[in-house]
Amino acid sequence: DRQPIIAIDGPAGAGKSTVARQVAANLNLVYLDTGAMYRAVTWLVLQKGIAVDDECAIAELTSKCKIELTPTQDLQSSVGVWIDGIDVTQAIRTIEVTSLVSAIAAQSAVRQALVKQQQNWGKKGGLVAEGRDIGTHVFPDAEVKIFLTASVSERARRRQEDFHKQGQPEISLDQLERDIAERDWKDSTRKVSPLQKAADAVELQTDGLNISEVTAQIVNYYQQRL
Ligand code: C5P
Repeated sequence: DRQPIIAIDGPAGAGKSTVARQVAANLNLVYLDTGAMYRAVTWLVLQKGIAVDDECAIAELTSKCKIELTPTQDLQSSVGVWIDGIDVTQAIRTIEVTSLVSAIAAQSAVRQALVKQQQNWGKKGGLVAEGRDIGTHVFPDAEVKIFLTASVSERARRRQEDFHKQGQPEISLDQLERDIAERDWKDSTRKVSPLQKAADAVELQTDGLNISEVTAQIVNYYQQRL
């Protein structure tokens, strides 16, 4: 007797966050950005000066830290992210965090702790959860599972546009493609819960589709299924 859950998984830069936010707003569901949680832990690891391969210290840190995600009404901005009372909403989007997050998200103690928290938040359902392992591990019984993809070049192009809009320094498409391909590789080859399309997920290839087209397809699919 829980409310429905929509799981959206896919590689970096496929547009998951933007689309998941729009879908949630459209259907009046809560949006859960699980990547933000892995990023927040990564930020804290860096801030404490813990080595990325010190799995013990990171496990300890993860089990003790308190992550809060505050909903936002503003469709343009991400959710507010707090760790141990510190607002890290902006800080978790830096290149430093982005380049280390996959190594930390690959550690099983980190995943165990964060997945447990995600499942707790999702107990009553009524949410759109976005990440890499939502349909496969976090909410395997989600009513709707979407695997959102796009070509590496399309995803690099979108990232460049995002950075441009945020007024961040220009990064070449080449560099962005390399970064994205590397994160794809790390996320899909790790031992614990690798990025994978769930057997019962619908794959949506989004090259050439805009955000409202992708959102509409997911909303339609949801309405057909429920
Ligand atoms: O989605 P986002 O780019 O913010 O995710 C950052 C990183 O967090 C991913 O590259 C991945 O390593 C990790 N992640 C994960 N499982 C999730 C969400 C994110 O491993 N459910």
